Amino acid sequence: MAKLERANFGSKLGVILATAGSAVGLGNVWRFPYMTGQNGGAVFILIYVGCVLLLGIPCMISEFIIGRHAQANTARAYRIVGGRNPLSLIGYMSVLTGFLITGYYAVVSGWCLQYIWASLLGHLDGDPAFFKDYFVQFSEDPVKPIFWTLLMLLATYLIIEHGVRDGIERASKLMMPTLFILLLVIVVAACMLPNASKGIEFLFKPDWDMINGDVFLGALGQSFYSMSIAMGCICTYASYFSKSTNLTGSAVQIGIIDSVVAILAGLMIFPAAFSVGVNPDSGPSLIFITLPNVFQQAFGNVPVVGYVISLLFYLLLSLAALTSLMSLHEVSTSFFQEEFRITRKMAALIVTVSCCVIGAFCSLSLGPSGQFMHLLGKTLFDLFDFVTGQIFLPIVGFLTCILIGWFVPHKLVRDEFTNYGTLRVTRFFHVYLFLVKYVCPICILFIFLHQLGLL
Ligand code: PHE
Repeated sequence: MAKLERANFGSKLGVILATAGSAVGLGNVWRFPYMTGQNGGAVFILIYVGCVLLLGIPCMISEFIIGRHAQANTARAYRIVGGRNPLSLIGYMSVLTGFLITGYYAVVSGWCLQYIWASLLGHLDGDPAFFKDYFVQFSEDPVKPIFWTLLMLLATYLIIEHGVRDGIERASKLMMPTLFILLLVIVVAACMLPNASKGIEFLFKPDWDMINGDVFLGALGQSFYSMSIAMGCICTYASYFSKSTNLTGSAVQIGIIDSVVAILAGLMIFPAAFSVGVNPDSGPSLIFITLPNVFQQAFGNVPVVGYVISLLFYLLLSLAALTSLMSLHEVSTSFFQEEFRITRKMAALIVTVSCCVIGAFCSLSLGPSGQFMHLLGKTLFDLFDFVTGQIFLPIVGFLTCILIGWFVPHKLVRDEFTNYGTLRVTRFFHVYLFLVKYVCPICILFIFLHQLGLL
């Protein structure tokens, strides 16, 4: 009975846009373009696409299978699919990873809101040193970033509280197309700047000499993070898929959308940066220090354009962050709701309040008042990033592949993969199984050792 009552996505488009919303996030904008530029341009894009195909998509399908089969929150889904196997306990780790990252991701998402506000008021105006000071002062402030973090979490709460169809699906159907249009507008504006072709060339010019092991491992890690794997998001969303959803087709479409957005983000950043002769970097400093400066220099001489582009850019980032945040929030919300048998509203409230606390501490740890919150030589903010992204994520990803490839009955996996034999994808099933059994775990192990500096 409980299964029949479970919410689900109302349409195929809803499935794709919501899941792509989780995948398309800050990672597409602040890391992918930079890595491409630094690692051989077009060659890196090719390697990246290969990683999405060989690693990202099979891992995503595995999470789809677990979530859709069990139709339950991630912790329970792993228990249902894994049975008595101790590996089924990693569902809990996956939920924990999603939970911990929500608070920290909300802080960065909140920064995007502050920059929308600052763009609106026309405050983002000055020389390069101004932009650096502005960001440092703002991120170290004990009040402002926390205010925006709470606002972002409140927005997430209001969407999540409305449920899967009326909340997540409707919001994704509205936000994802908007995000795409904003992206295209900025890409066109950036590519029309003088010397933009140099940036395009930098992004797409293949440089075969750049290829080495690090480039491969970088691309692998990025594909994994960018597709939101191992955080419970994909598994949780899949638990709302209908039994007729084509899992392989959906994973491929989401992989394509995610990669296209990442490449377009490159086409937004490099032409503008090259046009004004600034070297782009990555991470928060790219989007909060380098780019506002680049946009101002590139577009600032035409009065309204500079203002509009910067506003649109932060709107775009906030939307990308919000759709990812929704998926992260949903992981814990469904966990609390189902494991503790409480209402969805109550579960969402518990998650929101606890993430507000985590977010506030993460934010404070960046400022002078947060000195006591440093652990292992890292701020709490960096520690969350490190533990979730570099430790928990590969562990969960690796063990999920082992569980699906080696322990879960192949009949169950095949039934979900082929929708009980109704889809003619049997040929791909063998390829998928081979990838999940051998290729993915080995690749993830390499990324893990590489990230820890052991390789
Ligand atoms: N995929 C998101 C990005 O590219 C990050 C993310 C990871 C979001 C895991 C949700 C869950 O930014």
